[in-house]
Amino acid sequence: METWDECFHAAVDVARKAGEEIKVAFSSEKRIQTKSSATDLVTETDVKVENMIISTLKEKFPTHSFIGEESAAAGEKVELTDNPTWIIDPVDGTTNFVHGFPFVAVSIALSVNKKVVVGIVYNAILDYMFTAQLGKGAFMNGKPIHVSGQEDIKKTLLIAELGKSRDAKVLDIIFGNLREFYNEENITHGCRILGCATLDMCQVASGAGDAYYMSGKYGIGVWDMAAGALIVTEAGGVVMDTTGGPFDMMSRRVLCASSEKLARTIAEGLTQLD
Ligand code: IPD
Repeated sequence: METWDECFHAAVDVARKAGEEIKVAFSSEKRIQTKSSATDLVTETDVKVENMIISTLKEKFPTHSFIGEESAAAGEKVELTDNPTWIIDPVDGTTNFVHGFPFVAVSIALSVNKKVVVGIVYNAILDYMFTAQLGKGAFMNGKPIHVSGQEDIKKTLLIAELGKSRDAKVLDIIFGNLREFYNEENITHGCRILGCATLDMCQVASGAGDAYYMSGKYGIGVWDMAAGALIVTEAGGVVMDTTGGPFDMMSRRVLCASSEKLARTIAEGLTQLD
């Protein structure tokens, strides 16, 4: 079996380098622009860091393909083929980054034959490095991590995101879904919204949270899910579509949980956005 060790180490190195840039910029003045809407922010750091990651990896692996959040925003076609493809979110949690809220991460995944074999999520602000390689387990700062194994929705710490849409109908569904798990009958221990999809998934992987979902076309992309999904499954967790079907990283929907039973309970309670 082909190993992707060289790619894994290159990804860790470039994530650290990206993290250094993000950390410096985090406490400096930022130039902020909007992309698809007034709530879809981008800074010069997002673009600079993505360019640095792509040029560094391209030099090492010239035949590989690339998908990057900011390249896509600039109009590049997002196409996942069987060719080794790096999937990059240079600054996940850009709104957090803009406001100095320390849940910000660089996310780098390598997909081969449309299967993720390497996943790195690095929060340089808090210095949490989450890593995984297919079949080799998941780690935080070099120590193995595992999901909680929780099966009971009533003992669950649930993580969700509100997304970027402010459309009233979309918000009704988003808040309705939260309410489904935050009410008198279906009591979870609590719900958390961190504003950083990749770190949401890593919380589930490390057992700090029990489940996370994000549904719909209003913000989440393959770069928000690819690395995190591998980290969750390598930590013993389950990743599926929010409908309960198989996970498709190009679908803009993800549900991950510490157990299949918990994932199914949540999928059954969710109203889909699209
Ligand atoms: C966003 C964050 C946020 C999620 C959005 C994403 P970005 O990523 O992960 O938590 O709710 O849907 O787009 O734009 O900051 O890289």
